[in-house]
Amino acid sequence: MAIIIDGKALATKIKENLKSDVKSFYERFKRQITLAVVLVGNNPASEVYVKNKIKAAENVGIKSLSFTLPEGTEETEIENLIRTLSADKSVDGILVQLPLPKHLNEDKILALIPPEKDVDGFTAENVGNTVLFKDAIKSCTPSGIMYMLKSLPVSLSGKHAVVIGRSNIVGKPVSMLLLQENCTVSICHSKTENLKEITKQADILVVAIGRPKFVSADMVKKGAVVIDVGVNRTENGLCGDVDFQAVKEIASYISPVPGGVGPMTIAMLMKNAYLCALRRENA
Ligand code: GUN
Repeated sequence: MAIIIDGKALATKIKENLKSDVKSFYERFKRQITLAVVLVGNNPASEVYVKNKIKAAENVGIKSLSFTLPEGTEETEIENLIRTLSADKSVDGILVQLPLPKHLNEDKILALIPPEKDVDGFTAENVGNTVLFKDAIKSCTPSGIMYMLKSLPVSLSGKHAVVIGRSNIVGKPVSMLLLQENCTVSICHSKTENLKEITKQADILVVAIGRPKFVSADMVKKGAVVIDVGVNRTENGLCGDVDFQAVKEIASYISPVPGGVGPMTIAMLMKNAYLCALRRENA
């Protein structure tokens, strides 16, 4: 039976360490690190995520500025808000919670965030530098996944990592981070043929497809490390993209939902806010 990767405990440790870094920053630069959080509309999942992010910021000593805008907000209004926050010297990080309502152009809005305030690592410059294996603000969920993997007594170099999902937020960037660690990476998605043949070869399986219990035990190689990025709200409560009960009998390590990748994403966001602040002070 697999060992369960305790993302919640790892995240708590990261945030505890950050507390003292954030305090030292305050003593050195005589100002509080500040994170602006923009939420548009009333997507219930986004509301929960944003609430948890603000709570975590408070916990580590980062000041948060919360901007909650109604569903029908016009694009120009959001663009102006991002421009104002970009120009505001007291703001270190700008986070626009995704997904945005359909009438808004996500790409255009994200492109307005200056790369040095891009705490989510979503801008073309930060994604590009991630692909180039250069210094970048790396997106939070992929960074959290890598932190989890590196916490295990398992070497990544040369291993076959299979990623299910090709989103800009998870699938694409985590594939690049795995490649940087010398994994052989296969990226699968909804159009992949013979998916099971590929997932069966995975030493490391990262699942971010957004379908409840999509990965069954017969898709997993014995001893694989399985990271479940899915957060699906079903009638029976929250569940991941992996059939946890069945796959835990096959895997060597498995991340649970909840308590796995989710808390790691938030811890990495706090770390990114701190890194953005340091960079803005040229420190
Ligand atoms: N929506 C889902 N995940 C994320 C994330 O990591 N950051 C933002 N801004 N929105 C998201």
